[in-house]
Amino acid sequence: MHQNISSTEHPESGKGVPIAPRWGTADDKGSGGHGGRSPPKRSTKFLELINVAKTFTADGRRVEVLEKVSLEIPRNQFVSVIGHSGCGKSTLLTMIAGLEAPTSGSVCFLEREVTRPGPERAVVFQNHSLLPWRTVLANVQLAVDTVFPKLSRKDRRERAEHWLVKVGLKEHLHKYPHEISGGMKQRTGIARALAMEPQVLLLDEPFGALDALTRSTLQDEVLRLHQEQHLTVFMVTHDIDEAVLCSDRVVMMDNGPRATIGRILDITEPRPRERVAFMESQAFAHYRTECLRFLFWRKHGREPEPVVKAVQVQAASTASLAIAG
Ligand SMILES: Nc1ncnc2c1ncn2[C@@H]1O[C@H](COP(=O)(O)OP(=O)(O)O)[C@@H](O)[C@H]1O
Ligand SMILES: [Mg+2]
Repeated sequence: MHQNISSTEHPESGKGVPIAPRWGTADDKGSGGHGGRSPPKRSTKFLELINVAKTFTADGRRVEVLEKVSLEIPRNQFVSVIGHSGCGKSTLLTMIAGLEAPTSGSVCFLEREVTRPGPERAVVFQNHSLLPWRTVLANVQLAVDTVFPKLSRKDRRERAEHWLVKVGLKEHLHKYPHEISGGMKQRTGIARALAMEPQVLLLDEPFGALDALTRSTLQDEVLRLHQEQHLTVFMVTHDIDEAVLCSDRVVMMDNGPRATIGRILDITEPRPRERVAFMESQAFAHYRTECLRFLFWRKHGREPEPVVKAVQVQAASTASLAIAG
């Protein structure tokens, strides 16, 4: 259910409403249960989820998807979210994007409550969603035209080209989506997101539909861009290896309904990371086991030891592990 938010200004315009008015009001009736609490201090964080709850109503039935989700993400951090299918990972991402509103609690970006989508929080979905009747360049340029309408036509075109070159599509600017591979489409989606010059890149299983080789190439690209552009990245993934390889923190979600954050794992490997060396290290095996242990415990609802041992044997022979839906 979308909550009506009283702001008429975009928070990032510098004129948005501070977060305080929504706290402890009659609006706070979601499962997060803020009623009667004192308003929290104004957020001074880069990106923050404050006691977020989300309930959907479909066909007259209420589904309480998330509750009590609180998370602070500093600038330039790479955070991945893993959890069993349907636990609410994408819902969390769409609330940060401003495409959905929390039922209660707040998503704050630079001290302002997120109330709608904005170019500073660009999203890349798994199914790239390119317009089939536009070329690769025209798809990216459309985003640039929308975000930078005051730039000259030439500058807008150059900006779109710049980002397509950055993601390795220099030779494919004038092709249509049906003329390029899945990996190239996803690169186009990433270029389109980056051309908006976002501060936060929101990735929803961005490489899930790609073959292993293309996936690893694009992971390396995103890691490079994360460093070069000082991006903050929030990535939903099914792939534990991907989460560990890319992230500073892996956020593990409990199962739904009313899912919340079960555990956060810090990945302290320094950057830039050397893919093969890191993935073959003891540290990587440890991180991966921690994620598997968590997910299997949640799935089976009992002590994980025997299950995890079996899975570790299987994991050792698998280059990339997907979480079973
Ligand atoms: N717009 C919506 N309306 C109703 N239910 C929804 C909507 N979006 C998601 N849900 C439900 O919320 C739950 C979590 O969905 P989602 O966030 O997509 O899970 P995940 O990404 O972890 O697989 C699911 O039960 C899904 O059916
Ligand atoms: Mg999802």
